[in-house]
Amino acid sequence: MTNTVPVITIDGPSAAGKGQLCQEMTKILKWNFLDSGLIYRVLALLTLENQINLSVEEDICRVAMQLQVLFYSKNGKVQVILEGKDVSTKIRNQNISIIASKIAVLPCVREILLSFQRKFRLPPGLITDGRDMGSVVFPDALIKIFLDANLSERVNRRKLQLQKNGFSVNFNNLIDQIQERDERDRQRSSSPLLLAPDALRIDSTNIPMKQVLGIALNYVYKKLSLL
Ligand code: DC
Repeated sequence: MTNTVPVITIDGPSAAGKGQLCQEMTKILKWNFLDSGLIYRVLALLTLENQINLSVEEDICRVAMQLQVLFYSKNGKVQVILEGKDVSTKIRNQNISIIASKIAVLPCVREILLSFQRKFRLPPGLITDGRDMGSVVFPDALIKIFLDANLSERVNRRKLQLQKNGFSVNFNNLIDQIQERDERDRQRSSSPLLLAPDALRIDSTNIPMKQVLGIALNYVYKKLSLL
């Protein structure tokens, strides 16, 4: 059965501003929101805490199959409850980002997570943040946006974000980590990060978020008016 609930996908590399754009759009449109990166981050945390070897694909996929996680929104930020504990801060550190990106290359993990992610498609609409939202998870999405920015701008943004969350940051390590993660996300054979042919690309390098939001909303309203 086809799902007619409209979807807006926001894909792009790490720290391009997807999270902030989604947060603002969710507030305005009052639609549901899925931050798909959080799912990979929760899996990374479970792998780490259960000392699962990253090279044993079956073990990671077993964890993915049993995944039970709860998301809820508090003051516009997604909170994550895993096995009764709030892991919202823990999963947003750099070490978890790296493990999440390594786990995300595994085809069985991506396959298992497909149905989990599609369950978020509920009325009145869904806004999703990720790497393969428009290309693989919701290929029939009404509106696809690819948010980009150059590497140094993205590293600066992530540095500020990490510092705001109380993490200490080594700038040079951060450049290497983001570059390595981007490369892994773009090069993997299963659902790589790419610009879907029917997506609007916005380069946010030199434009403030308020303007990015304006461009995105204009595009969204234009598409919605055609329904
Ligand atoms: O968006 P994020 O930084 O929270 O994502 C963490 C990692 O999860 C990212 O490096 C790659 C992976 N990921 C993915 O492969 N596909 C998605 N749709 C979302 C995230």
